[in-house]
Amino acid sequence: MVLCDIDEAGGRAVAEELGASFLRCDVSSYDEVVATTAAAEQVHGGLDLVFLNAGVATGCGVADDFDPLAYRRAMAVNLDGVVFGVHAAIPALRRRGGGTVVATASMAGLTSAPFDPVYSANKHAVVGLVRSLGPVLRPSGIRVNAFCPGFAETAILTGLREMLLAAGTPIIGVDVAGRSVLQILDSPETGQAFLLQAGRELMVYRFRGIPGPLTESGEPVR
Ligand SMILES: NC(=O)c1ccc[n+]([C@@H]2O[C@H](COP(=O)([O-])OP(=O)(O)OC[C@H]3O[C@@H](n4cnc5c(N)ncnc54)[C@H](O)[C@@H]3O)[C@@H](O)[C@H]2O)c1
Repeated sequence: MVLCDIDEAGGRAVAEELGASFLRCDVSSYDEVVATTAAAEQVHGGLDLVFLNAGVATGCGVADDFDPLAYRRAMAVNLDGVVFGVHAAIPALRRRGGGTVVATASMAGLTSAPFDPVYSANKHAVVGLVRSLGPVLRPSGIRVNAFCPGFAETAILTGLREMLLAAGTPIIGVDVAGRSVLQILDSPETGQAFLLQAGRELMVYRFRGIPGPLTESGEPVR
């Protein structure tokens, strides 16, 4: 297993605990993601499972509090990072005859998140990407799914935790979130958004089908 993070000290410590290798990678950099993926493949002689989990809160809104740099950073980590990660992994997974990709989106990728609209936008984009790639990559034996948890007990909640606790919002434990990712990696599904709500089993989120177009005479197009 190869663990990658921009936080070198923290990443190395976790990798050591897990008996994994560590490679520093900024997922917002196309060159770094491509080089790191190639290095990971080389270290272990192949790539089978890819977990694209890096993510950040935006730290600004889009009204008076808009900060173009913070916006670009959030889009680069949360969306570009996943696009670059899947792009870099596909050839390596094909060389193994298939594999699995899980990208962490969020419940904010399935519903509105007024506390961080830009985060909601890039997480919706990750869900759209995964749903679109599922059928495209199926013939190569590559499964790709999104993990969409509600609030989970991690550092990203700094600044939100007190408000959530005051509102009585249950927070998902990291052990539960971790087990859910393993479940998705094992699942035969592809192109799906897996929702994890506190206290509930992990579930495939079912989207409503969109109404199809009508002909000029008002008949459904077949
Ligand atoms: N905790 C929650 O409530 C929650 C809910 C839904 C989704 N998520 C998502 O879960 C994922 C993991 O976040 P978390 O909750 O563990 O938060 P976290 O802040 O504990 O972890 C995020 C990790 O991403 C790394 N990272 C940040 N920018 C990076 C970059 N440019 N390149 C490489 N690594 C980078 C950080 O160093 C950190 O280790 C994120 O995608 C987040 O959006 C979290």
